Amino acid sequence: MTPPRKLHIKSYGCQMNVYDAQRMVDTFCAEGFVETASADDADLVILNTCHIREKASEKVYSELGRLRVLKDDAARNGRDMKIAVAGCVAQAEGAEIIRRAPVVDVVVGPQSYHHLPQLLARAQKDGRALETEFPVEDKFGFLPQPKPDAIRARGISAFVTVQEGCDKFCTFCVVPYTRGAEVSRPVAKIIDDVSRLADNGVREITLIGQNVNAYHGQGPDGLTWPLGRLLERLAKIPGVLRLRYSTSHPRDVDDSLIEAHRDLPQLMPFVHLPVQSGSDRILAAMNRKHTADDYRAVIDRFRAARQDIAFSSDFIVGFPGETGEEFAATLALVMQIGYAAAYSFKYSPRPGTPAAEMRETVSAAEMDERLVRLQELIDHQQAAFNKAVIGKTVDVLFERPARNPGQIVGRTAYLQPAHVMAPADIIGKVLPVRIESLERYSLLGQLAMPPASSTPAPMTIGA
Ligand code: 5AD
Ligand code: SF4
Repeated sequence: MTPPRKLHIKSYGCQMNVYDAQRMVDTFCAEGFVETASADDADLVILNTCHIREKASEKVYSELGRLRVLKDDAARNGRDMKIAVAGCVAQAEGAEIIRRAPVVDVVVGPQSYHHLPQLLARAQKDGRALETEFPVEDKFGFLPQPKPDAIRARGISAFVTVQEGCDKFCTFCVVPYTRGAEVSRPVAKIIDDVSRLADNGVREITLIGQNVNAYHGQGPDGLTWPLGRLLERLAKIPGVLRLRYSTSHPRDVDDSLIEAHRDLPQLMPFVHLPVQSGSDRILAAMNRKHTADDYRAVIDRFRAARQDIAFSSDFIVGFPGETGEEFAATLALVMQIGYAAAYSFKYSPRPGTPAAEMRETVSAAEMDERLVRLQELIDHQQAAFNKAVIGKTVDVLFERPARNPGQIVGRTAYLQPAHVMAPADIIGKVLPVRIESLERYSLLGQLAMPPASSTPAPMTIGA
């Protein structure tokens, strides 16, 4: 009997890429492959790439250099190793990859990865295969469902794609070009996916999409459902203890989403709401379609609906022409909102985007300085937010054994890791934990109510 072929996937970038990589694994498992943790013994290596900033893109070519050595070694040992490049760099630079990297056998864009097995077969026959079209069919209709043991092995928290693509065209961003136009999956398909995950032990679902709160999927009643209505329906699925969604655009926050935060205990009070800048002139140049005050008003609506809600955000420093005063407006906004966490990036010109044509650049030294100042402020806010939980009793969803023997690690509503000494059967349950201390980013505490082995999670599961 020939041993099964081995697949290794390396994924870069966003949560959507993590999700897509899992679906690629499911696709090849259905073809008889098994996953391997190392590229060394793989028969197929897939790089699932990210194009969002220049640094992310460059990683592909350096990784391909390393893979060329492995592929040559394999060939010397009579083994055929195939290499595929998937994801957003594949979409944006497909032909260039084929030209620049002869080691690559298959190039596939994010909308076509359900064709990977056929593309691999084509590469086997013809040498190389490239597909970066946006096909008319919905790839989700063709992707095999993960097997129950694969779901269990991936743990109690899972991503589900509900929406893809973006129509916002922020001037700095490649996403509308690499991921294409906004498309929402039908409600019934999402209910199926979530039910299957929950039936196999998943307790936390994060709905993902490039602009997830632009969701407008077809409901079973024939109407178009907004994200809030979808969340309300998913909260009724037995076993779903926690719901999250990411990433949102401030302009697309509607009443249904605010009401979902007001009404659904399963919907976690932690929202990633990127603002990018606090300056109205820069926001307009970025084509964000809102002002800093509009953003403040959206935050106020969330806070009025759920008083314990917290926010994270993304920021770009050094957008073309950003003055010191405009950067100061970003600092002022951060100070005013008070974030639980945030990501900040130096502006990186992306080929083909309108901002890449803007001539007034900010010097590298200035960008570095602004990034340090912003990150200091954010770190300070994050540390204060984490410290505030010491001495309190908070709900934790337990995920897995921690590195220290006997400890189990879970997450609070705000995604803070929390460690307790406890039996492993608390994994998958939400239990109250009295937080005693903070070590760097991790909380340490004790179960407030040590559970009997058979104690169910003290949390409402939807009817
Ligand atoms: N340069 C720097 N940061 C960028 N982002 C997106 N495009 C760029 C770019 N060209 C950041 C934004 C976005 C996050 C995912 O990445 O802050 O919200
Ligand atoms: Fe990119 Fe987000 Fe703007 Fe869409 S809304 S173009 S994904 S930054």
